[in-house]
This record gives sequence, structure tokens and C-alpha cells, in this order.
Amino acid sequence: MQIFLDTAEIEAIRRWAVTGVVDGVTTNPTLLAKAGAKDVKSVIKEISSLVREPVSVEVISTDAEGMIREAREYASWGFNIAVKIPMTEQGMKAVNVLSKEGIKTNVTLIFSTNQGIIAAKAGATYVSPFIGRLDDISHDGLTIVRELAEIFRIYNFTTKIIAASIRHPIHVVESALAGAHIATIPPKVLESMFKHPLTDIGIERFLKDWESLHKK
Ligand code: E4P
Repeated sequence: MQIFLDTAEIEAIRRWAVTGVVDGVTTNPTLLAKAGAKDVKSVIKEISSLVREPVSVEVISTDAEGMIREAREYASWGFNIAVKIPMTEQGMKAVNVLSKEGIKTNVTLIFSTNQGIIAAKAGATYVSPFIGRLDDISHDGLTIVRELAEIFRIYNFTTKIIAASIRHPIHVVESALAGAHIATIPPKVLESMFKHPLTDIGIERFLKDWESLHKK
């Protein structure tokens, strides 16, 4: 499974990219606003230089023509740009055109298995089921990941599933088990995946024992 960072914070991306565990990045207008990214183009260009795999940038147009125009512009910013397109009829019209031009797309705001099937049929490179937002309203977000993984396998769809709207480390484990190709993870959640109290206690004990050995 690949790991993408779900953030537009350059310092966080830089921090975690050097560990070798981050493959790509997903952004959206909310994350860019949170990061104070006024010059979106230069922020995205810098992010895309830090990772090998796609950096997702979201369109703000709601009509297919506008989305296609934005997508062509974003795709010109780097070889590893994926354009996030919302799961609407207009969006799928745009994905159909963009996929034929070889522009990578990430269909976002997927809240049902049927929406995932439609996006894959339209030619999406990635689909992003939002598991946390579904869990928030007492729906099981992971069922969609599991069902899409099975359907894509049976019918040989090349579309990759990005488990999105991840809230905690258990979501990551469950997404991996459900067959997500990628989990896009907020930096705080990634940080907590590194940690276990027994690791810290173990290091402390080894250091103490090493010290006592040299005191004798
Ligand atoms: C994914 O691409 C989205 O940017 C993100 O995962 C949404 O997460 P949220 O529900 O925490 O806003």
C-alpha cells in the first residue's frame, strides 16, 4: 500500500518525505487555506518536487469546460500532478476528456460504491472514498473501500483506491486490510503510526543499561 500525505504544509511534507514512507500528497482548497498557500502554483510546484508520486490539486469550477481548463493548467505544473475532480455528472464529463489526454485524475468526494464504479468507468486514475466523513454520520466508510477493491479486482479496473478522510491510525490498518491501494493520511496520524510506548520504554531501558555497564 502506498502512503500519501493529506496536507499542503510544506514543512510537514519535507519532514516526513525524508523518512522514505511518503509516496505522494493530496491537497484540497481547505488544506491550502489552512497552510496559508496564497501562491498556489508555487506551493504545489514545491510539494511536487518533494515526492515521486502524484500531488493532487483540486479544481474549483463546477462545469466540465471549466474543470478541463483548470486541469490542463495544473497538469502543466509538473509530471506528477493529479487533478482532483468532484464526483458529479459534469465532473465525469471532464474525467472522460482528461483521461484521453493522459492527464491523471483523482475523483474526490466519493461516498458510495456506485459513485466509485461510475468514476472508474469514466476513466479516473484514482477514486477517493471519504471514510472519516462517512463514519462521522454513522455510515461504515470502509465498506466502500472493501467493495470497490473487490469490484475493481473482478473487472480488472486500473483505477486506484485512495482511502481518504482518515481520522486515526486504525483507519489506516483497516484501509490496508480492505484493499485500498493508497491511504492519504494527515501528518498527525502519520506521526502516531511511528509510535508505541513500549518502543520508548525499551530505548530508555537499553540506554540506562548501557550507562550502568560503563560505570562498573
Ligand atoms: C482527500 O483527498 C481529502 O483531502 C481529505 O482526506 C478530506 O478529509 P477530511 O474529511 O478530514 O476533510
